[in-house]
Amino acid sequence: MADVPARLEGIRAEAEAAIANAGTAAELEELRVLYTGRRAELTQTLRSIGELAPDQRGPVGKAANVVKQALEAKLAKRSEALEGYELERGLAEDTVDVTLPGDPPRPAGHLHLVTQTRREMEDIFVGLGFKVVEGPEVEFDYYNFTALNHPPDHPARMLQDTFYLSEEVLLRTHTSPMQVRSMEAQEPPIYIVVPGRVYRRDSDATHTPMFHQLEGLAIDEDITLADLRGVLLSFARAMFGPEREVRLRSGYFPFTEPSVEVDVSCFACEARGYLADGSRCGLCKGTAWIEILGAGMVDPNVLGFVTDSGYDPERVQGFAFGMGIDRIAMLKHGVPDLRLMFENDIRFLEQFGS
Ligand code: DAH
Repeated sequence: MADVPARLEGIRAEAEAAIANAGTAAELEELRVLYTGRRAELTQTLRSIGELAPDQRGPVGKAANVVKQALEAKLAKRSEALEGYELERGLAEDTVDVTLPGDPPRPAGHLHLVTQTRREMEDIFVGLGFKVVEGPEVEFDYYNFTALNHPPDHPARMLQDTFYLSEEVLLRTHTSPMQVRSMEAQEPPIYIVVPGRVYRRDSDATHTPMFHQLEGLAIDEDITLADLRGVLLSFARAMFGPEREVRLRSGYFPFTEPSVEVDVSCFACEARGYLADGSRCGLCKGTAWIEILGAGMVDPNVLGFVTDSGYDPERVQGFAFGMGIDRIAMLKHGVPDLRLMFENDIRFLEQFGS
């Protein structure tokens, strides 16, 4: 036992060398346990001092404590140094190379073609003094048919055309029911357009079970068919170009009298019917005209349903029109199939970025 202090010196030398070489905080922690932990020889020595011969206790205890303090000091110093290195290394590794190219820009979305077209149409009519209102898509048979002067056996009421939810409730087949709803809610004069979804049991390249319409209604004193023509001509020119003309052909709708079908002069062939290479124009099929909507003078029978709201057919009259928003978009952008509008294939949609 006489050489315990020398042995302790050996441990100290070995430990100090190892501590000086520790490269990471984890390595240093292992050394702390190995040389100063519970099972370390140094710790064991200090614990068993009482078992030594009395004259040994002083020198061995002193030597062991000196070594213990020395090692603790070295461990603390090395730990501090390592923290410094690790911080430096972290800073070096984390530097941002500002000369690298950035991430590619994220593609920006845009409004759907139908929404763009609806807004464009609304803007045109707002510019002409109309107000935009919307109404329910789940509608009463009363507003969709009865108050619009449809006789009980009108074909549009039949099950194959209309989605009925019950005998009296249906998915509206057009935006026209908002004519009567709006007149019930407001005395004349009234100038409104009504965009929205409508539903019919129909499906092919030009029909889908859901599509969009924009309805127009103007009721005032002294309104004539010429006012209707003027409004639609302004619309056609704003939508399809300043050179356009409109043509009114006689038609039939239960809620207008007289009723008209309205054509716009073809903008693909400048209303010639044939293209520059002499071939027949595909858009107007060689006719120089394209049908865009139905319209007419509001039938006095319709006003008869809202006489209590101030629509006395002896005093006021007006016009109404209805057109397909999707159809207008198809014509304007040359979309060949209505179903493309609702399949939401991104390759189709992104051709109409604004
Ligand atoms: N509601 C008709 C349809 O869906 C379109 C229409 C025609 C609306 C004439 C009108 C109108 O307001 O006057 O086929």
